[in-house]
Amino acid sequence: MTPRLGVCYYPEHWPEDMWAEDAREMVEMGLSLVRIGEFAWSRLEPREGEFHFEWLDRAINTLGSAGLKVVLGTPSATPPKWIVDKFPDMLAVDKEGRPRKFGSRRHYCFSHQGYREFAAQMASRLAERYADNDHIEFWQTDNEYGCHDTTLSYSDNARKAFRHWLKERYGNKPLNETWGNVFWSMDYETFDDVDLPNLTVTEPNPAHSMDFRRFTSEQVRNWDLAQVEAIRKHCSKPISHNYMGRITEFDHFRLGDHLDIATWDSYPLGFLEDRSDRDEEFKHTFSRMGDPDFQAFHHDLYRTVGKGRWGVMEQQPGPVNWAPYNPAPKPGMVRVWSHEAFAHGAEFVCYFRWRQPSFAQEQMHTALKRPDNTPYPVCDEIRHVATEIRNLTHARPKAEIGLVFDYRSQWAWEIQPQGQGFDYFKLVFEYYGALRQLGVNIDIVDLEKSGLSDYKALIIPGLFAFSDAMKEQLDNFKGHLILGPRTNSKDENFKTNLTSVSAQLGKPISLDMVESLRPGTVVELVNGGHFKIWNECHKTEAQTEELKADGYPAVIRNGKCVYMAGWPNSEKLLEVIETELTKAGCKTYKQPGYNRRQSIGMHEFQLNYEAQSAVIKG
Ligand code: GAL
Repeated sequence: MTPRLGVCYYPEHWPEDMWAEDAREMVEMGLSLVRIGEFAWSRLEPREGEFHFEWLDRAINTLGSAGLKVVLGTPSATPPKWIVDKFPDMLAVDKEGRPRKFGSRRHYCFSHQGYREFAAQMASRLAERYADNDHIEFWQTDNEYGCHDTTLSYSDNARKAFRHWLKERYGNKPLNETWGNVFWSMDYETFDDVDLPNLTVTEPNPAHSMDFRRFTSEQVRNWDLAQVEAIRKHCSKPISHNYMGRITEFDHFRLGDHLDIATWDSYPLGFLEDRSDRDEEFKHTFSRMGDPDFQAFHHDLYRTVGKGRWGVMEQQPGPVNWAPYNPAPKPGMVRVWSHEAFAHGAEFVCYFRWRQPSFAQEQMHTALKRPDNTPYPVCDEIRHVATEIRNLTHARPKAEIGLVFDYRSQWAWEIQPQGQGFDYFKLVFEYYGALRQLGVNIDIVDLEKSGLSDYKALIIPGLFAFSDAMKEQLDNFKGHLILGPRTNSKDENFKTNLTSVSAQLGKPISLDMVESLRPGTVVELVNGGHFKIWNECHKTEAQTEELKADGYPAVIRNGKCVYMAGWPNSEKLLEVIETELTKAGCKTYKQPGYNRRQSIGMHEFQLNYEAQSAVIKG
């Protein structure tokens, strides 16, 4: 199978007499996939019970007859005004208790049962109508769960559902004891006494907050499942969802369990400006190329979420409109980004969007074509990619190294950072960056479910609490294990776990003290390098491989297991990882600067994120 290109298209935005020519041009450009429909509710059902599917029939037919395969989105990210009027309590409520308003998108609360059923019914209607339509290749549910900070909702419906969830989870188990509610006289008499953990005077009980985060994640999953079940009643075609970059409020692995394909929306320049921890100088240097590791991290993540089947549903083609600054990509970068996705095993890359509208919120967001229908120069770049990928065979990249990412750990350390600089995503991303400098293929691992037998080395930084399933996986793992700070330092109920990684290390390890460090404060390591942000002081019977200036071990080893007792500076991190990978028998390919390497099947990709051209030695 050859990887494919596609585009996002909104037939409802353009006069119908443009559709056929648009479709012809898409095919001529080398595109074979087109996604439509995901925001079209007000045109499909302008008033309750009044359906207008005929225009969509014609759009699908026009696109399909031109030779395109259609991805059909369910329109639930944009409930129209009449639905909000029907269910005024369906709006999500923010942490400050303010309802979100109608007038943009994603304004619903995942806990509103009425809207959940409405959305599932719409999905069911679409599936019934198009189940046998050969032009449709697969489905997309909703659009970008969690985008615009819309996962956590503090509505009355959420409160009611949370209480119910607690009853189901704890039943007769003593909630007060499990959470430790004796502290500050927080004991509850019944589950109905428990409120949502917002608007408290100071921080709520972390166990309470953690359960709210678990509950919320499950609400998103169940919300999606309602649509998936509705579609599957009529249609057996694959179902996908388009995830976003660095959205961590729900567990994507668990949502992905019931989907067939994972897709994600890749906006390298928007992400660098909008959601990156890099410093100003870095942002300045890479403002037209994007972060050299951010896209790849998500490619590897969503390959796991999709259980191997994944693609880029929205690829930035030019300046966007939503980041603090919106520069144009350096000519050639759209080609680099597209190939990078294929190098990580994407089945397709779709560009966002076909034509730039001259109206509404995204009128400043570029596309492949301008509002007057003339093409942007990026169209030539895309044509070029379309020719290049003809000789590429789609495959799943093989990796000897697994890096664990765990959504619960993101929630846990948001709830209890213990130091402003401690962010779980940032920690894992720094490990990922070190691996990328070594030019190796990486799998992002879901420790609950991914099989581990392919890996010579497994890396686990900052994982909050090992579940029983995770413990079992690790007990059976035969390769090298690199564990980072804070790993397993809690139990699942957010109680301190004093034995942390003793089981994995095979020797007791006990914590004397932990401290967080303000920017600029570091703890030196005796043989060079330092810990920043986070420092742990342990006693252990395992071997001290490196010592800190405070007299405690920095790197602890027993056999194939290594524990880093703090957050290392980047050179130290690279050194420790490189040494361990060599011991594990992994071949590494140190990269010059920000060139990146990835291999797939017979192909090796070299991706140049530097501003200047690079010469590759064969
Ligand atoms: C995505 C979204 C699209 C569009 C795009 C603009 O997050 O899915 O609908 O808004 O951003 O960059």
